[in-house]
Amino acid sequence: MYNFDEIIDRRHTGALKWESGPDGSSLPEDIIPMWVADMDFPCASPIVDALHKAVDNRVYGYSQYPEGYFDALKDFYARRHNITINEDEILFTAGVVPALQYAVLALTEPGDGVITQTPVYYPFFGVISKGNRVLLDNKLINTDGKYSIDFDDLEKLASDPRAKVMMICSPHNPVGRVWTAEELTKMQEICLRHDLVFLVDEIHHDLIRGGYKHISVMELFPDAQNVICCTAPSKTFNLAGLGVSHMFCRNKEYLKKIAAVRGYPDQNPLSLAAVKAAFTNCDDWIDQLNEYIDGNFDLFYELVEKYFPKAKITETEGTYLAWVDIRAYTEDSKAVETLLLDKYHVYIECGDAFHGEGFLRINLACPRSYVEEAFDRIKDIKL
Ligand SMILES: Cc1ncc(COP(=O)(O)O)c(C=O)c1O
Repeated sequence: MYNFDEIIDRRHTGALKWESGPDGSSLPEDIIPMWVADMDFPCASPIVDALHKAVDNRVYGYSQYPEGYFDALKDFYARRHNITINEDEILFTAGVVPALQYAVLALTEPGDGVITQTPVYYPFFGVISKGNRVLLDNKLINTDGKYSIDFDDLEKLASDPRAKVMMICSPHNPVGRVWTAEELTKMQEICLRHDLVFLVDEIHHDLIRGGYKHISVMELFPDAQNVICCTAPSKTFNLAGLGVSHMFCRNKEYLKKIAAVRGYPDQNPLSLAAVKAAFTNCDDWIDQLNEYIDGNFDLFYELVEKYFPKAKITETEGTYLAWVDIRAYTEDSKAVETLLLDKYHVYIECGDAFHGEGFLRINLACPRSYVEEAFDRIKDIKL
């Protein structure tokens, strides 16, 4: 059994989550940071061992993929996601946000439209605007805290002659939906009807709450030529700082164009050693992690209902992020973020940057004692 209650002191280690506040400010020593999406759990021991071994080489030169790397990757995706992928359908990228950016730049022109579904992980907006592409916003429908897709609106946006790409998040950050096969199929049908690239960010694919099942677009549409799936071991195994991600795509022409935009892949020997171990020996860690995070959600839901009964919880199906509607208290979620941070030293992001004003996003990938301590501090606030 792994011990997810263990406290790792991440202060003064350069950890963004623990040291960097809004607008570059620093964070107080007693901060409870529940914002950026990394976890406060130690990595699984096979990963740490692999890193030690790689460090002990004492030379960290230019690297190629270590022996067995792609077999480990392919086995992992076959075992955990029912995906069959060939080596020439995989493109290495040093991060999912860069991967999305390369794809949009490679496959569209300035002025082209990219459909996405807000509220959404806010770097999506930068990916779209960077090369002067146009955001076509297929706003999600929120019915009493349950999010769904407005397919009529999607069909309309897809028929806009500017539309070239549909870029989604699956599972969805921040609303926590795990899209069903039916929803994904309807989206893909619309993409095919209107000749759109279906660009899918599956970075949260292993972080699935009890009772739900993530389905990859690579499993569901195994031969589709318009589908690009961006995956990574970074969220799953808490390796975000190591900069490793993988793009899967059956369309060799797309991969060629995207690789040309990406340029040199920038693999580094420590990251690759860690990731190979993660793909090989850490399934039990993922399963225990998800159970532990489910426990955090149970506690979180109980405490929100107890202390903030008017807040509306969106049930998280995937990711370790909670998404809470506080509009019954106030529309000004930015002011709540500031109050929680300045007065109580609890750093929770408001939804504004995600186009989710009036909401808070809370990262629950932390020892349970942090959740308890956060509520102890904030339970009496008047919103
Ligand atoms: C949906 C989503 N995509 C991408 C990322 C970041 O990916 P990377 O650090 O690999 O660029 C995150 C991080 O929170 C995320 O939530």
